[in-house]
Amino acid sequence: MTLQSAAPGTRTHAPGLVSHMGPADLEAQLRRDAKEGLTAPDKSIPSKWFYDYTGSMLFDEITRLPEYYLTRAERQILRERAADIVADTRADTMVELGCGLSEKTKLLLDAFKRRGDLKRFLPFDVDGEVLKMAATELLERYPDLQVQGIVGDFERHLEAVKVPGTSLVIFLGSTIGNLNEEQRGSLLAQLSGALKSGDSFLLGMDLVKEVGVIEAAYNDSAGISAAFNLNILSVLNARLNGNFEIGSFEHLARFNPDTEQMEMFLRSTRAQRVRLADLDLEVEFAEGELLHTEISAKFRREGIEQELVSAGLEPRRWWTDAGTNFALSLSSKL
Ligand code: SAH
Ligand code: AVI
Repeated sequence: MTLQSAAPGTRTHAPGLVSHMGPADLEAQLRRDAKEGLTAPDKSIPSKWFYDYTGSMLFDEITRLPEYYLTRAERQILRERAADIVADTRADTMVELGCGLSEKTKLLLDAFKRRGDLKRFLPFDVDGEVLKMAATELLERYPDLQVQGIVGDFERHLEAVKVPGTSLVIFLGSTIGNLNEEQRGSLLAQLSGALKSGDSFLLGMDLVKEVGVIEAAYNDSAGISAAFNLNILSVLNARLNGNFEIGSFEHLARFNPDTEQMEMFLRSTRAQRVRLADLDLEVEFAEGELLHTEISAKFRREGIEQELVSAGLEPRRWWTDAGTNFALSLSSKL
């Protein structure tokens, strides 16, 4: 991809924003995922479908909850280390996977601004609305920077990361924890394949810690995590012409000590039948039946560094916050 001309099959839909997937492609993938997940013996739906405008705004609220320590811990590391990261990578292009509102990213962009190295920033997200908000604000705040948003699925569209010059790809917020080990392996291998020798990868991860602290982050007292989880049913209703009754499901989030990951579900509070008209699909839920919506893996240094090495990356730096809740890992492409 170059900045002047979008890759074949892409489509410009607003100044400064380039779409890679397009609504038809997104729609087709959601249909496939919903049909497969809702007709399986253990029902599930991939967590990427949380993020319509409402889902992205609910996640933004989550980042400010007292129980949700992840964002504060990562911000603390970035505040302390942004200058080191920028000096180490000397990138002229930064790509952010799953950028959301790119709130913490401003710490890196400010550090780049002080050095004057960075020419372009490519925020990448599956939610075009949040991307537009982020790109618009960043274009105003950094008028000398080329900001070009990419609407895409980082599990499928990493060719967008192939850019001229020296790149720093960032993947913050522990969003990598929302992928299982196989999905992580595939994403890291694709990413490594797209990077050039000398490019860098900055990864933010939530660390394994006391179960009570982790579980509280996903069961906040204000009920925002529950609303975020339930929003996936509204997404299915709106996009697939469904009739999920949101009040007949409840949020369930628990830590699995064997896999060291949070597991999120929606539990049907009664026997019910749901219709998704656009799929011509009727789905039966028994009372108490679970719909699996998300995992959020928690990491240990040895494990994630092994995953990075297996993908052909060289982990070189490791920073944590003072409470050792969260880590940033900086790798190079060999
Ligand atoms: N990076 C931000 C936002 C994290 S929320 C932070 O650290 O706070 C996760 C973000 O990843 C959301 O904006 C969501 O839309 C995006 N996302 C989730 N799955 C995705 C996928 N498969 N491809 C692209 N973006 C995805
Ligand atoms: C985006 N992601 C890293 C969040 C997490 O912590 O796994 C999503 C989230 N799910 C519930 N609360 C927050």
